[in-house]
Amino acid sequence: PTFYLQFQAPPLDVTSMISGGIHHPVLRKWQNNGRNLTKSMFIYPIFLSDDPDAEVVISSLPGQKRWGINKLEAFLGPLVKKGLKGVILFGVPEAMEKDPRGSPADDESTPVIQALKFLSKLFPQLMLTVDVCLCEYTSHGHCGILSSLPNPGHSNAPTVDPEASAQRIAEVAVAYAKAGAHCVAPSDMMDGRIKAIKLGLMHAGLGNRCALMSYSAKFASGLYGPFREAAGIPANFGNRKCYQLPPNARALARRAIVRDANEGADIIMVKPSLPYLDIISDCTQYAPNHPTACYQVSGEYAMIVAGAEKGIYGLKDMAFETTESMVRAGASIILTYFTPQFLDWLDEDQ
Ligand code: PBG
Ligand code: ZN
Repeated sequence: PTFYLQFQAPPLDVTSMISGGIHHPVLRKWQNNGRNLTKSMFIYPIFLSDDPDAEVVISSLPGQKRWGINKLEAFLGPLVKKGLKGVILFGVPEAMEKDPRGSPADDESTPVIQALKFLSKLFPQLMLTVDVCLCEYTSHGHCGILSSLPNPGHSNAPTVDPEASAQRIAEVAVAYAKAGAHCVAPSDMMDGRIKAIKLGLMHAGLGNRCALMSYSAKFASGLYGPFREAAGIPANFGNRKCYQLPPNARALARRAIVRDANEGADIIMVKPSLPYLDIISDCTQYAPNHPTACYQVSGEYAMIVAGAEKGIYGLKDMAFETTESMVRAGASIILTYFTPQFLDWLDEDQ
């Protein structure tokens, strides 16, 4: 008597029948367009303290710690054995004195320089990337050198001096390259820093021995919250809206991608990842001759872990679903705090 019983669903055409290709786990893997998650895609972010014996839990980043140099061998050794190919180092000076130009960034005793020298000897196959920025080292907590001029559009954000900032960032990047970095990754977002770093590396004779991964499309995101605790950024620094991209800005992100590709970047990065998959996809179109990286940032990680703890989904399933979305969008390099788990998961029969 009901309406839907009064007509016959048309017989399926051959082109309508697509579920035949996904009923078996192996068949489902074959639907990946040749793009699989592999261990060498992953870069693990590591926080380094200037206390050589530190092993300090970071409460906002479940499972992550701040490490002292004396703990690195025991911490990283087992991961390297499992196939860890790359790390990105962040320095968190706790005792060093910060100033407006971020002097501790390239001090000989700074944790990343010490760790670069140590790790390049200890794990010669491990690819060492260093985050280059001033915010962990400046007294004001901003990523560049501040200008004395007020910022007319932001009551809570200063103006940066782009040329002085690019110069200082390049100086720091060259110091890291000299200490053994295989790749420097500026996250500061100061205009002109990619060209300044590339020229600095070339003048130091390191142009062909140190890669330059640009955080090109880095958005002013709420998802950096846990990182700022992890990296000891002062809480009163205001916001970074005068140098990080507005979340609505797809075309501006394209300009930043093209600019950095032209200024000498070897790898282009998008950050955060999950809310910016369209920008990852734009990289493959606007910088088609550069590898695309994306950073699954601290807040994305914390959100996934929190949801799993609430029973909303399984942790492993969600870690795969999110990172596979990044690969699908065009990323071939993923920076993520899930890297240690992926070294296990990729060995398991998924
Ligand atoms: C700072 C920097 C940030 C991250 C990497 N480098 C945060 C920020 O700009 O506030 C974010 C990393 C993360 O959230 O995991 N230059
Ligand atoms: Zn910064």
